[in-house]
Amino acid sequence: MLVDAGDAVVVEDPVYLGARQVFEAHGPHLVGLPTDTEGLDPDQLAARLRGGLRPRLVYCVPNFSNPCGSTLSPARREVLARLARQYGFVIVEDDPYRPLHFGPCPPTPIAAAAPEHTVYLGSTSKFIAPGLRVGWLAAPAWMLDALIAAKQSVDLHTAPLNQLIAADLLGDDAFLVPHLEHVRSRYRERAHILYDAVGDFVESRPPTGGMFLWGRTATPTRPALAHAVEGGVAYVPGAAFAVTPGAHRGHLRLSFATLDGAELLLAAARLRSALTTVS
Ligand SMILES: Cc1ncc(COP(=O)(O)O)c(C=O)c1O
Repeated sequence: MLVDAGDAVVVEDPVYLGARQVFEAHGPHLVGLPTDTEGLDPDQLAARLRGGLRPRLVYCVPNFSNPCGSTLSPARREVLARLARQYGFVIVEDDPYRPLHFGPCPPTPIAAAAPEHTVYLGSTSKFIAPGLRVGWLAAPAWMLDALIAAKQSVDLHTAPLNQLIAADLLGDDAFLVPHLEHVRSRYRERAHILYDAVGDFVESRPPTGGMFLWGRTATPTRPALAHAVEGGVAYVPGAAFAVTPGAHRGHLRLSFATLDGAELLLAAARLRSALTTVS
C-alpha cells in the first residue's frame, strides 16, 4: 500500500526474509542499515536522513528479532519515533516474538510513541499456532480504509473460523497465562542448551527471547549447508538474510524452538562435524 517502484525502504541488515520478499515484489530501493546487539541503530538512520535519504517506510522487528534475536532499547525506540515524526515516514513494527520473553517484558512498542506513523503487527503464529494464519495490525486511522481495501484485494478476508478460534484463545486467560509461561520456560531452557552446546564453535550471545540463535563461525556457512543436511541437521546461512551483497557469510541462524534437549545436543554435534568437514 505504501511502496511504489523506486521508493526507498529501510530495513535491518540482516533482515527477515519474508518481509524482504514482500517489499521486493514492489520494486523498492532497499536500504539495509547495519545492526548491532540492540538491533537497528537509529543514529545511522539519522545520518542517512540528514544526507537526503527519504524512505517511505522503515521496517523493523523490535523484539528478539529474526534472525539476530536482538531487542531495540527504549532509547532507540524513542529516536526512531522522533525521526518518523520529523521526516514523515511510516515505521512497520513487526512484533510476532513479543510474548516470547525469557526475562522481563520487552520495552513499550514504538507505536506508542509515534501512533500516527506506525503500523504495528502481531501474530498468533509464534505462541499459538502458525497454521491458524491469524495476525493483526494496529494502524493510524488515516491508513485504515486503504489497508482494508488492500487486504480484501489479497484474499477477501481471513477465514472466520480461524479468527474465532484465535479470539477465543486470546481472550481466555485461564488458557493463555499458563500456556505462555510454559512456552517461555521451554524455549528459555532450550535456548540455553543450544547456546552452551555450540559455544566453542559458534560465537553468539545468549538469547533473551524468541526462537533463534544467531552466531558467527570460523567457516563460510553456505557451503557447509549441504554437508550439514547430509549429516542430519539444518540451519539458515547468514547470507540468506543479507541486504548488502556478500554480507553475513560467516553467520548462521539456528532455531531452538522445536527440538528437545537431547535432540539439540545431537544437532549441535552434527553441526560441529559439518562445519569442520568444510574448513
Ligand atoms: C519477523 C517475522 N515477521 C513475520 C513472520 C511471519 O508471521 P506469520 O506466520 O504471522 O505470517 C515471521 C515468521 O517467521 C517473522 O520472523
